[in-house]
Amino acid sequence: MPLPPLAQIPPQIAAVADYEDYARERMSEAAWAYLAGGAADELTLRANREAFDRIRLQPRVLGKLAGGSTALELLGVHLPYPILLAPVAYQKLAHPQGELATVLAASAMKAAMVVSTQSSVALEDLAQAADTPLWFQLYFQARRDDTLKLVRRAEAAGYRALVLTVDAPVNGVRNREQRAGFSLPPGIEAVNLRGLRPMGQTVARAGESAIFGSGMLDHAPSWDDVAWLRSQTRLPIVLKGILSPVDARLAVEAGAAAIVVSNHGGRTLDGLPPTLEALPWVADEVQGRIPVLMDGGVRRGTDVFKAVALGAAAVLVGRGYVHGLAAAGAVGVIHVLHLLRTELEIAMALAGCATLADIGRQALWPQAWQAPA
Ligand code: FNR
Ligand code: LAC
Repeated sequence: MPLPPLAQIPPQIAAVADYEDYARERMSEAAWAYLAGGAADELTLRANREAFDRIRLQPRVLGKLAGGSTALELLGVHLPYPILLAPVAYQKLAHPQGELATVLAASAMKAAMVVSTQSSVALEDLAQAADTPLWFQLYFQARRDDTLKLVRRAEAAGYRALVLTVDAPVNGVRNREQRAGFSLPPGIEAVNLRGLRPMGQTVARAGESAIFGSGMLDHAPSWDDVAWLRSQTRLPIVLKGILSPVDARLAVEAGAAAIVVSNHGGRTLDGLPPTLEALPWVADEVQGRIPVLMDGGVRRGTDVFKAVALGAAAVLVGRGYVHGLAAAGAVGVIHVLHLLRTELEIAMALAGCATLADIGRQALWPQAWQAPA
């Protein structure tokens, strides 16, 4: 039986990673497999973290740090620090209050939250409870009418941007979920999608084509659909799930307001490179024309620092905050954000960076064969 959420945070929880065991003990085995798992052999899932651990920082001493700040402007909103909450579906699997606890935490910490299309609390209820900028993560639906309904609801509820996730027209190979027998328990559903036409299922008999033969990709979104979406709304459109520099250029040309370099937390195509490795290539291609965000494996303030040094305007955290949610509800999410922000500020101080703009590639230790800058 899973344990109840913690009533207070014990001193043994000193870092975001410490939340993982506390979260696991408070979720069913199947729900944990859904949250923790990645596609297939989880090569990309592991690579996301390993890429951060490979990068070294360059210290700088005795520089002037007075007036330092982690603040930024992003798509017209002021954020005190460059850490957003990534869209994570079905958060009631982690905690009975689900996304409602997360939005309270985000509000307390003045962090922007991206609400999943597949949230287990209605997008309007979250907007009602929010005192912080919310972005709505959009999955194109089988029918354009249904997609538009979601867009209009997000607009009416006061969401500030649409985050169109483009890297998951089909689910990845979800071996860990299958082995654990995961299915949504009664009482947890994608409430925003009630009454909309369900997406195709990938059930095929042996000898039949499961994906191409199923017709489900007949509705798979294309760049034309991005243009259509732009014509339907004045909200800025963020494309989430860009890894290739070629797609990054197409995203700029398509009028995206920002992109998120992401491999969906290693949950879609196993074998993709870690996001931190793709980030500098994408940043070099985009050349500052639009903000480049990233996610995948962020568990430390130093990870945020490394991502910013390689060209990210901000990062999103996924599993890290959901671990806090499962362990201790809103208080756990608040603590996770507090830890990440504090660690980022310490890293900036010790690397001689007073502002995010000061964190460039010179803030990273060069390759072993190069002399430090
Ligand atoms: C996700 N992610 C995701 N992304 C999205 O666009 N819509 C969604 O509904 C979900 N749902 C979801 C559920 C779960 C359980 C996970 C773990 C992830 C992907 C998410 O937004 C983000 O890209 C990754 O989670 C980032 O990697 P980390 O921080 O989890 O390592
Ligand atoms: C996932 C889908 C919901 O990653 O995006 O589970």
